[in-house]
Amino acid sequence: MPETKNTSAVRRVYVDYNATTPLKPEVKAAMLSDLDIYGNASSMHASGRLAHARVEEARNAVGKLLGAPPEDIIFTSGGSESNNTVFQTMRRLASAPDGSPLKSGRTEFITTDIEHPCVLNSAAYLRELGFKVTFLPVDENGKIRMADLERVLGGNTLFVSVMMANNEIGTLQDIGEVARLVKAAGAWIHTDAVQAVGKIPLNVEDIKVDYLTMSAHKIYGPKGVGGLYVRSGAPLYPLIQGGHQEDGLRAGTYNNIGILGFGRAASLAAGEVEKYGREISVLRTRLRDGLKAKIPNIKINGHPTDVLPNTLNVSFPGAEGEAILLSMDMMGIEASTGSACASGSLEPSHVLTAIGVGAELAHGSIRFSLGWGITEEDIDYIIETLPPIIARLRAMSTLSA
Ligand SMILES: Cc1ncc(COP(=O)(O)O)c(C=O)c1O
Repeated sequence: MPETKNTSAVRRVYVDYNATTPLKPEVKAAMLSDLDIYGNASSMHASGRLAHARVEEARNAVGKLLGAPPEDIIFTSGGSESNNTVFQTMRRLASAPDGSPLKSGRTEFITTDIEHPCVLNSAAYLRELGFKVTFLPVDENGKIRMADLERVLGGNTLFVSVMMANNEIGTLQDIGEVARLVKAAGAWIHTDAVQAVGKIPLNVEDIKVDYLTMSAHKIYGPKGVGGLYVRSGAPLYPLIQGGHQEDGLRAGTYNNIGILGFGRAASLAAGEVEKYGREISVLRTRLRDGLKAKIPNIKINGHPTDVLPNTLNVSFPGAEGEAILLSMDMMGIEASTGSACASGSLEPSHVLTAIGVGAELAHGSIRFSLGWGITEEDIDYIIETLPPIIARLRAMSTLSA
């Protein structure tokens, strides 16, 4: 199939890398040649052995990215499945009947108000089943307070899940400190690191978590594949029951091409995470300062320093987010808004609400998430294009600027 080229006169600037990333050219080229690795990685013949060897190479690469031994990595269909697997494992432990070797007597769960929906909904499900689940609040920058965590951690706490980096505002949590407190309380600690992996240096031996979730399509790999780090000795039960793949922890024939693409993306990411931090944060600062200089009365959401190098969330009082997005899209700029359009009614973002941004302002907020391929000229194009859009929408609006 020929490459689809954008032939319209409008320049395209994709700044929605937290939603997903394109394949890196090196990943794409490797995947194209790996498409012929068709053997079932569980088969004993040569084709199966070849597929198995390549899947194990990918596991090594993903492990290396996290500083983890390859045997502690399980391949899944993505971040959502990894998070669900850990939550369902904990549900199994919490509901183990008397006399079962799984029974620890602990039944309480802790997470935060700003998690991705796949964690929030997993936690809400546990609450529906009757378990006690505490959702920790965050401060105005999006950080949980350690004192809040210490207050709710107790002898009945089974499991704590705190995301490493927030997808909407980019705020980073002090996961090493969270893990220290949770382990001292004798509970299991999980972090959803989908937005952190490949963007900031991280090593599971430094942060000492028991479980860590990742996803290939956020690091220039393919969609529909991800991973779960499980520290040796931490319990895990399959979400998907079936064959013996992944040591019986995740059934289903290996997704060879997805896993190989993930492995390739992971080895590239491991080699350039520092460069990413340096170069992408310069572009983020340029965008932030440019928008501040050119557009009066804007608010930057998220932590001022403990933040992903690529994520800039901005509120534009007096303008409506969906209208800003559509106007930007007509000018070729692809970003996203924190609002979710659910059943025809616009709910303000739960993350912005949690940091104290009011519903009206939350509706006028845009997330710019940058990545490889964005240039200074692209940033300057956004800085030039956005001010007249905001001025026009503010002039038309009944919202207060
Ligand atoms: C923080 C976070 N967790 C989990 C996910 C879900 O990952 P996946 O799309 O691989 O299921 C996402 C994707 O947006 C995310 O940003």
